[in-house]
Amino acid sequence: MSVLPYKDKNEGKKQQVASMFDNISKKYDLLNHVLSLGIDITWRKKAIRLLEKDQPKLILDIATGTGDFAIEALALHPDKVVGVDISAGMLEEGRRKIKRKKLDHLIELQMGDSEKLLFPENKFDAVIVSFGVRNFENLEKGLADMHRVLKPGGKTVIVEFSKPKKFPMKQAYNFYFKYILPRIGKLVSKDNAAYTYLPESVQAFPDGNDFLEILRKVGFKNTKCKELTFGISSIYIGEK
Ligand SMILES: C[S@@+](CC[C@H](N)C(=O)[O-])C[C@H]1O[C@@H](n2cnc3c(N)ncnc32)[C@H](O)[C@@H]1O
Repeated sequence: MSVLPYKDKNEGKKQQVASMFDNISKKYDLLNHVLSLGIDITWRKKAIRLLEKDQPKLILDIATGTGDFAIEALALHPDKVVGVDISAGMLEEGRRKIKRKKLDHLIELQMGDSEKLLFPENKFDAVIVSFGVRNFENLEKGLADMHRVLKPGGKTVIVEFSKPKKFPMKQAYNFYFKYILPRIGKLVSKDNAAYTYLPESVQAFPDGNDFLEILRKVGFKNTKCKELTFGISSIYIGEK
């Protein structure tokens, strides 16, 4: 059973996720950095550093949202980063930010669904996703399409929340995620469901070896997982 943001609505996960991110798009960046105490920024940086040796020239950032991972990827000096997302609201915020930072010649944001990417196979040198895969309606389909558009020898780097396994971080994290984060999220974003969906969806999402297994199932090789900050998040790497 997949976890849905709005349990009282009949729409499928994809539509609900898109509406939810449209709703919170204006507060998304602020809440991200406040709720994670800014650690999310260091997680994205660490993930991008894993591609330093590969020097990818054309990068696809899936579920780009407001574009933070795409902007971080510029540290690799690519020719271009293309970001796709299903939420028009998030893309609008992203475009505004990218223009303000005068990066619009390097980053192009497009409406696009991870499960039906409108790119030919073997196009990108690297495909990256931060905090996106948990929101896919069909995880395997999304990962398989990422594999399809990646060049042979290219890498995917995925950052996603995971579940800390050890005392006392496990207990502290559960308390924060269950009781503190939804309250602050609701107060600031004015969306009743978004920050309850966050801990619920993390709880139900495969992490560690379970996620690596799915990556291998859709065709990725040399898969690896690196835990970040006591396992609150993880970076997953795979090659085509
Ligand atoms: C938590 S945000 C992450 C945004 C950004 N990557 C970041 O690190 O801040 C998740 C994003 O995934 C997008 N998303 C969910 N399902 C998607 C899909 N099937 N295809 C493309 N984007 C999707 C949502 O619209 C949302 O903008």
